[in-house]
Amino acid sequence: MRLDKLLSNSTGISRSEIKKAIRNGQATVDGITVKDAKMQLSSEQHVTLFGQEVCEAKARYYMLNKPEGYVCANRDREHPTALDLMIDEPLYEKLNIAGRLDIDTTGLVLLTDDGKWLHNVTSPKHHCHKRYIVQTAEPIESASIEAFKNGIMLKDELKLTLPATLVSLESPDDNVNLAEVTISEGRYHQVKRMFGATNNRVVALHRAAIGDISLDDNLAPGEYRPLTQTEIDSIQ
Ligand code: URA
Repeated sequence: MRLDKLLSNSTGISRSEIKKAIRNGQATVDGITVKDAKMQLSSEQHVTLFGQEVCEAKARYYMLNKPEGYVCANRDREHPTALDLMIDEPLYEKLNIAGRLDIDTTGLVLLTDDGKWLHNVTSPKHHCHKRYIVQTAEPIESASIEAFKNGIMLKDELKLTLPATLVSLESPDDNVNLAEVTISEGRYHQVKRMFGATNNRVVALHRAAIGDISLDDNLAPGEYRPLTQTEIDSIQ
């Protein structure tokens, strides 16, 4: 990794401030002052800034139980954001959301500062499954189950949706229609649009799992926890 990137990532100081400090002789590598911000470092090298040892920041991975009313954005003028819920974490603003949810969708959100891992969650090529519990306005018809399986041509799109599973769930209330949907893409408002295209409407949407990572039952809405190593490794 480049010297300026490592120093910025691990201290939270902006890249331009770091470059200035390096130019002013405030950084050393293996005990020698270095003024080249672009210097490539190996993981064994010892780096200091302002006389203090700097360790390479370890990548961070979290799951959050997103409540309704929060937007999946880094900043928003009108609404609180999922990142506002992570404010107790140092450098929380460096975390990125791996698969956004709509403001009215609740449930599992993954956050990380590991770009490759995030890509593996979100890239359509990786077919990472996302499982949702859906309340719908109308009962689930078998024609919809078939349509979800065969792919749906959504408005303004050029390709059918990839095969998705739709399963009607038992509901404790006869007036409430519940279903489980599993998709392997992340198109804009995908679940809502798929139901819309099959003459139904989503009343409530909750994400229960991404790949093998299920939302922890112990997390109340708004709470988060670090992922376990097994959960991190489950995303390839
Ligand atoms: N599909 C949607 O329509 N909304 C979400 O928030 C997630 C998936």
